[in-house]
Amino acid sequence: MKKIMFAAVAAFVMTIQSGAQPLLTLQVDKAERTVSPTLYGLMTEEINYSYEGGLYSQLLRDIAMQEMTGGQQGRRQQGGGRQGGPAPKPRYWILNDSTAGTLRFNTTGGISFVQKRSLSIELTKPATLENPGFWGIAVRPSTTYYGEAYFKGNGRVTVGLRSVNGSTIYATQDLTLRSADWQSYSFNMQTAADEIVTKDAVFFIQFQDAGNYSLAYPTLFPKAKKAYTVKSDWYRTDIMDLLREMHPTFLRFPGGNYLEGNTFKERFDWKRTIGPLTTRPGHRSPWGYWSTDGMGLLEFLCWAEECGAEPILGVFAGYVLNGDYVEGDALEPFIKDALDEIEYTIGGPDTRWGARRVRDGHPEPFKLTYVEIGNEDFFDRSGSYSHRFMQFYDAIKAKYPQLQIISTQDERALRGNAENPAAVKVDVIDEHYYRNAEAMYRAAQQYDSYDRNGPKIFCGEWATREGSPTTNMNAALGDAAWMTCMERNSDILVAHCYAPLFVNVNQGGMQWESDLIGYDALTSFGSPSYHAQCMFAQNLGNKVVPMLADGVPTVAMGRGDPVPQLYYNTTIDSRTGQLYLKVVNIGATAQQVTVAVEGAKPKGKAEVITLKAARPEDTNSIDNPNNITPQKSTLKVSGNFRLPLAPYSITVVKM
Ligand code: AHR
Repeated sequence: MKKIMFAAVAAFVMTIQSGAQPLLTLQVDKAERTVSPTLYGLMTEEINYSYEGGLYSQLLRDIAMQEMTGGQQGRRQQGGGRQGGPAPKPRYWILNDSTAGTLRFNTTGGISFVQKRSLSIELTKPATLENPGFWGIAVRPSTTYYGEAYFKGNGRVTVGLRSVNGSTIYATQDLTLRSADWQSYSFNMQTAADEIVTKDAVFFIQFQDAGNYSLAYPTLFPKAKKAYTVKSDWYRTDIMDLLREMHPTFLRFPGGNYLEGNTFKERFDWKRTIGPLTTRPGHRSPWGYWSTDGMGLLEFLCWAEECGAEPILGVFAGYVLNGDYVEGDALEPFIKDALDEIEYTIGGPDTRWGARRVRDGHPEPFKLTYVEIGNEDFFDRSGSYSHRFMQFYDAIKAKYPQLQIISTQDERALRGNAENPAAVKVDVIDEHYYRNAEAMYRAAQQYDSYDRNGPKIFCGEWATREGSPTTNMNAALGDAAWMTCMERNSDILVAHCYAPLFVNVNQGGMQWESDLIGYDALTSFGSPSYHAQCMFAQNLGNKVVPMLADGVPTVAMGRGDPVPQLYYNTTIDSRTGQLYLKVVNIGATAQQVTVAVEGAKPKGKAEVITLKAARPEDTNSIDNPNNITPQKSTLKVSGNFRLPLAPYSITVVKM
């Protein structure tokens, strides 16, 4: 009994065949479907401390002087005390001796009209101000820490890094403050060659004299002095290394909800995210904390470039998360913003915004194929998206006909709300799926039956949500089953990316459970899902090889019908003849699969890469980062061959 996987959904359903061994047949001579060259990519937004306390290597917390603690609602406002209880005070700027004076945020009189806020420090005796960084600051030997800060006041200070209890000093530099007005100071501090490695350092400013001081926009980078222009060391190296391993072909940014913001004021307003850091006002992320926009538009673009990827640029589409929206004439300024943003990305030096990019430090235009209009506009119950989308679509296509425009609603919804349904044009539709492992298995044929002549699909957010803060092996199995479906259908599914990408694993760091890559101040690690994605993306041909399956057992699951125990896909690199067979065994039992290859004769030693776990709930963590990692072995192949599959495993065979 052979079943063809390309056929309708029903053809994929397997029956239990007790005793029979599964047979997978690869029809190499029938490989016709083209694999999208942009299939595997990344999605990012400021969530779970992705940049602040994550990829953006600036080390100090709350440099914008925004976060209060104590009193009513942590009283963001300065006033405090009205309802009794302790008055609010700066949360991440702390005096080591509370009897030495007071700290207060000033909301006016800052270093510029953009950076209005500062910290006022009134001392009756010498004291030390501390900043804990994002759950600690990492210290490594022979490292230069470069910082800048604006001060007002007169006196001697020492800035540095030290242990939490102050007993170990890692690096320092003395400064003499001598200005009643704002004055910028910079410091380069070097740790010793024999310094220990720790993530538990704090930044300090020791005031050696009593007096009144002010502090604004201090920054600290674990690198030698950097010019403002973006360099690869803007980003945390260990996390970038993990991303490069994923072989991403694109980076979808800046969201997600982060694109939209809770209110118009809190959207990702790209023009306020470029230029020198102190000229970026920053804004609150919908995920509840302040973003300095140190990761602005240019840093996203360069991040993509650093990973060998191209941007998938999400442009703000006039709708925010509280449900407010604008359309018609009121939308025009936002359409202009989007056109300017595209010009900044791909325009030549003779264009206004292309010239600005050149001035900002990136002479070459970036590559751009896809622009996405908004994010998850199916939440806009007003039905305004079809109008808003068409306004953007027409304006962008008029100026940049080569760009592919992504809609966040499907065609049916767009047409249903459009004044002229026939005029609705969609290049690509963005679909989002957050599911548990069972739902992923049940959806593993979803795209097999999609219309080959309709708009292309971008699965712009997806994840199997099992495990926290990062996902476990159960999630990796669901992910891998889902990826076999996306690969098999990559003639219509042009791109996909997992979300969320990052989580700071410290308590309070996570707003969204089940994430791909975890880190603290010092180290980072990939979840089993991360490794599954690396295995899939690193081993990919340019054509899909149809597969026949026979004797695949099923496993009981949930309340519904049993699901197949194996999920699989094969691609071939038509230039080299290299085959990439991927098989996912979601069951608790090992399987011996017979692999038959039609239309080719693989022989010799195949490379086998396996990710497996003893239990589905097994996982990686910051303390045990390599518990589940891919293992390599070889397998002799010639004619039909046997492929052993461990329980709970994902296997890639390169032959
Ligand atoms: O990935 C987390 C959130 O899920 C995204 O911000 C949003 O687009 C989706 O609802």
